[in-house]
Amino acid sequence: MNKKIFILGINGSTRKIGNTAKLLKRVLDYAKDYAKKEGAKTEILHLIDKDINPCLSCLAEEKCKYPCNIKDDMQEIFELLKKVDCLILGSPTYWYSLSGLMKNFIDRLTAQDMLEPPIMDGKVVGFVATAGLEGSQQAITQMLIPLSSMGAIVVPYSDLFSNAGKVWRTELGINPEKRLAKNLINLTKIVNGKQGKWF
Ligand SMILES: Cc1cc2nc3c(=O)[nH]c(=O)nc-3n(C[C@H](O)[C@H](O)[C@H](O)COP(=O)(O)O)c2cc1C
Repeated sequence: MNKKIFILGINGSTRKIGNTAKLLKRVLDYAKDYAKKEGAKTEILHLIDKDINPCLSCLAEEKCKYPCNIKDDMQEIFELLKKVDCLILGSPTYWYSLSGLMKNFIDRLTAQDMLEPPIMDGKVVGFVATAGLEGSQQAITQMLIPLSSMGAIVVPYSDLFSNAGKVWRTELGINPEKRLAKNLINLTKIVNGKQGKWF
């Protein structure tokens, strides 16, 4: 029997039932529904619940090592990340960029980037960002580039963003949440089991 696809949403907002969490949840719900046949397990990790300290830049002295010199909740998060097939990173827009919580988390992923291959290698990834007015595209870019650089596979139409409560592209009659969910499931099915083959 095929194992269920495990999709983890990561919420980089301090608000656990805010705009970003709601958008993340919509995609996860669509994904669960779309993957009805094979089944999908979904979960949201709220970064605000975790003790994640700032990166100490051991890398600058070539002392960065997995699972990180800082002992905090990143070790349990690394274990969780090993189990997921697919990730959705979500951030509110803070000053035309990603949130500090999400940036800090991405910085701390550096320890897993010391592995050959990194844990992120071959994980299918999509992105969600919200903004009061504008700037959510920049937040997406700031998440997308590092994740791609760590070996994650960016899903087609990966950038789901809303400015002023309006999800981009809905004006064209597209449901971008549904499309992202569908593409995450379909791409995960294609690449599943190929983790480490891209390094
Ligand atoms: C520190 C801070 C900076 C913000 N910067 C921007 C911004 O540059 N552009 C914008 O449109 N909204 C900005 N906002 C508004 C948030 O992006 C918006 O309310 C977002 O949807 C909040 O997401 P959440 O409900 O998941 O926390 C900012 C909010 C905060 C708290």
